Amino acid sequence: MQVFLTTDRMVLRRITPDDAPLLLGLDSDPEVMRYLTGGRPSAPADIDGNIRRYQGWYRAYPERGYWIAQDTGGAFLGWFHLRHPHGGDPAEPELGYRLARAHWGRGLATEGSFALLGTAFADPSVRRVFARTMAVNTGSRRVMEKLGMRLVRTFALDAPPIPGAEHGEVEYALTRTDRERAEAERHGRRPRDAARGGPRPPAPSREA
Ligand SMILES: CC(C)(COP(=O)(O)OP(=O)(O)OC[C@H]1O[C@@H](n2cnc3c(N)ncnc32)[C@H](O)[C@@H]1OP(=O)(O)O)[C@@H](O)C(=O)NCCC(=O)NCCS
Repeated sequence: MQVFLTTDRMVLRRITPDDAPLLLGLDSDPEVMRYLTGGRPSAPADIDGNIRRYQGWYRAYPERGYWIAQDTGGAFLGWFHLRHPHGGDPAEPELGYRLARAHWGRGLATEGSFALLGTAFADPSVRRVFARTMAVNTGSRRVMEKLGMRLVRTFALDAPPIPGAEHGEVEYALTRTDRERAEAERHGRRPRDAARGGPRPPAPSREA
């Protein structure tokens, strides 16, 4: 098992071809897939293709990719990713997560994502981490807000329409500057911008 990182309650490890049944089972729950495909499950061939793609990620970018999340006893919880989309800027990786329904509402998406933000910004070349979801995916948006990400834009996705797609997609982001400001505030230091008399960022918002 190749562990990428651990949190208080989770181990994030590399995905292998043996994990196909776990990923297939996850994507077979219509509620998990509701805001991704409208509830349609993934096809086994797509899962296999994705797993092959992940192996390429690990080779090319050991600090980027998709990781299975399991609890400290080894039980499967879901997965997280930190990747830059094909042709995207490695300095601006995208965060993503998908958890089995039995584990929703325990703060796990926030916990894993927070740890991944730490690894992302440990790379000095990373300027910003972003995340996207359907505007109507309130739970996912809430995770982004709890991470201190800010709504950047609402946009239409060029994809087959599913219920709720008429409200568009949202993109949230956390810049290095905003993260450093939040860290400073958390540790009771004066934020750099505040010390300079600069503007404070607006509070996270669900509004476009
Ligand atoms: C989105 C998802 C990852 C959230 O995982 P999670 O571990 O339950 O998230 P957390 O517990 O860290 O935080 C969820 C927050 O959203 C809130 N929430 C969840 N569903 C909500 C809803 N329908 N309306 C309002 N708030 C909601 C929770 O109350 C919690 O906020 P709180 O801590 O302030 O109470 C999980 O539901 C999931 O895997 N969904 C299916 C896949 C998916 O949609 N992935 C995102 C696509 S980009």
